[in-house]
Amino acid sequence: MSATIIDGKLISASARQQIAEETAAFTTESGVTPHLAAVLVGDDPASQVYVRNKERACEKCGLKSTLHRLSAETTQQQLMDLVAQLNADRTVHGILVQLPLPNHLDSTPVLDSIRPDKDVDGFHPENVGLMLQGRPRFLPCTPHGVMKMLEHENISTAGKHAVVIGRSDIVGKPMAGLLVQKGADATVTVCHSRTADIAAITRQADILVAAVGIPEFVKGDMIKPGAVVIDVGINRVNDKLVGDVEFAAAAEQASAITPVPGGVGPMTIAMLLRNTLEAAKQSV
Ligand code: GUN
Repeated sequence: MSATIIDGKLISASARQQIAEETAAFTTESGVTPHLAAVLVGDDPASQVYVRNKERACEKCGLKSTLHRLSAETTQQQLMDLVAQLNADRTVHGILVQLPLPNHLDSTPVLDSIRPDKDVDGFHPENVGLMLQGRPRFLPCTPHGVMKMLEHENISTAGKHAVVIGRSDIVGKPMAGLLVQKGADATVTVCHSRTADIAAITRQADILVAAVGIPEFVKGDMIKPGAVVIDVGINRVNDKLVGDVEFAAAAEQASAITPVPGGVGPMTIAMLLRNTLEAAKQSV
C-alpha cells in the first residue's frame, strides 16, 4: 500500500483564509483587532522559529501579535510579573508562553497564572477540565489541529481504535481527551515510555498518533496495514527535520500519513489564530 499524504500546509491555508475573513469582519464591526501576546524566554533555536512562524501567521490573517523576549536569566518572578501585566492589558486577547522554558523556571505556576479567558494554548487547568467535560472554551492547538485534519480528510474516528504514543500535557493527554469525546467516539489507548510491548499495541491502531519526541520512533512494522498515521513529532537531526515516525517505511503500510514538516505543525498555528480570534470575540 502507498499512503495518501495528508497535506497540513494546504488544509491550514484554507483554515487561515477563513480566519482572515472572519477577523476582517469582526474588526470592521467592533473596531477591535485580535491581539496575541507571545512570550519567549531564552534562546532555544526551535522555539524562536515556532514563535516567528506564529507571529507571521498572525500578521497574514490580520491579527496583531506582540513578542515579549526575555533573557535566559529571567527569574520566575519576572516572568510571572509579565504574565500579570498581559492579563491586565485590555488590548491583549491571547497570551502564549512558549514552552519549554529554561530549566530553572517552573512552567506550572506560570501557565496557572494566565487568565483562562486569554489562555489560547488551552493549557490552563480550568480549560483542560472544560475540554475533558466536553464543554470547551479553548481547545489545545495541536490536538485540535489533528482533529481538523482528520475531519478534512473524511477520516471518521467513531468506533476506531486510536492509539496515542506519548502522554505530554501539550499533546498526548489532550489528544486522547479529544478522541474519546462524544462525537469523536474513538476507543483510545495511550502508550508511553513504561508501556510493555508497545509495538503489539500500536499494531492494533486504526489511527496512530505519534507524539513521543523521539526521532523515527515508529517503524513500519509497528503499523497495521491501512492505518492512518499522524506524526506530531518535530525533531532536528543533523540539521534535518524528522518526525516521530520513520516516514518511508510507514507510508508503505499506512492508508494515509502526515509528513514532517508540512503536516501537523501548520495546523497548530491555524488553531492558535482561531483561538485568539475567539478570545477577542468573547472580550467585546
Ligand atoms: N511548545 C511546543 N508546542 C507548543 C505549543 O503548542 N504552545 C506553546 N506555548 N509551547 C509549545
